[in-house]
Amino acid sequence: MGSPLKKIPASRAMLGMYVRRIEGKWRDHPFWRRSFLVADAEALKLLRALGRQEIWIDTHKGLDEEGPASPQPSPELAPATPDAPSAPEVARSDFGDDIVRAEAIRDRAKLAAKALFEDARMGRALRMENLPSVIEEVDNAIALNPAAMLSVVRLKNKDDYTYLHSVAVAALMMALGRRLGFEGAELTELGLAGLLHDIGKVGVPDATLNKPGRLDPLEWASVRQHPQIGWDILRRESAAGPMALDVCLHHHEKTDGSGYPHKLGGEAISRVARMGAICDVYDAITSDRPYKRGWEPAEAIRRMAEWQEGHFDRAIFHAFVKLIGIYPTGTLVRLASDRLAMVLSQSGGSSLTPTVRLLCTLPDGEPLDSMEMELEDGDDRIVGIEDPAQWNFQVPQLLRA
Ligand SMILES: [Fe+2]
Ligand SMILES: [Fe+2]
Repeated sequence: MGSPLKKIPASRAMLGMYVRRIEGKWRDHPFWRRSFLVADAEALKLLRALGRQEIWIDTHKGLDEEGPASPQPSPELAPATPDAPSAPEVARSDFGDDIVRAEAIRDRAKLAAKALFEDARMGRALRMENLPSVIEEVDNAIALNPAAMLSVVRLKNKDDYTYLHSVAVAALMMALGRRLGFEGAELTELGLAGLLHDIGKVGVPDATLNKPGRLDPLEWASVRQHPQIGWDILRRESAAGPMALDVCLHHHEKTDGSGYPHKLGGEAISRVARMGAICDVYDAITSDRPYKRGWEPAEAIRRMAEWQEGHFDRAIFHAFVKLIGIYPTGTLVRLASDRLAMVLSQSGGSSLTPTVRLLCTLPDGEPLDSMEMELEDGDDRIVGIEDPAQWNFQVPQLLRA
């Protein structure tokens, strides 16, 4: 049961296909809607004119590529969606669709991570055969909608923290890698490195990892061994590769040389390990733990900006902020028009003008039609951040809508 989403060059578009997204900035092409059914010859012509630019088609909502090639079917004869499912569809936005799909991918990746940790705990060879396909799924989801994938890996409950943290770091590293120009097999390696970076935690007692309070010096010494323990485990795995070994061993190094285990500084820490350090800290501090509630993403970015000197690579951190945004996905914001909205995704332009979904008016809380709005257009602007708890909003449910 594969994903219904498929990426093809626009030149191979056909009538009856359902286009979920066009790669690149949507205003660069003549379609005003980002998702649509290719229902007439005119739309098909415009779409094919995009040539090698890639499009994502949804094969559940429209036709797939396979079947007899029909280079230019007559629009009169081509039914709009001959095999379109007649089952009632949940009325969900495209963003909501992406969230639900990303959740399924996250759950599969979490099971794969769990198996890895179980094997490591038992001292067995790690089951890594299906990791490339799991990572490819995560990477596809990131290519389609990074905001959706990154928000579903962030929202985790305390019990499955270790496995989901691994998946989250994998997703963050691949998303960041895409921004920094990594591609192909390198992206898969980044994902693998993210999934495996904390495998050495199997050598630290659970009571220490989940301790609700300050660690004593002995416990702290035990935690600090996890990069080396992980490296020892991965060294025996031919499928792990040098990037995974490197990130595992050095994701707790800091650019000023105050990290562990080797007190490496600056350039002595590889680029991928510096990426790992940023993704790891961001996910750790935005997650709920037994001893503390996670920070909201916007707050996490603000704190990390304070620490960046000496801790993180400046250029990589800036790319990371661009990825997550000043107002990350799921942030509740107050608009100048006295309306409350939730941030869905970052726009191509400034991180101050994301795409939002309108929720209600202020101060009376009158619900608004859940309309999406691109603040980049300049029709409204953000004037503040609001606490979802104060408004009784459940962000995960809102994202799924
Ligand atoms: Fe770690
Ligand atoms: Fe970690």
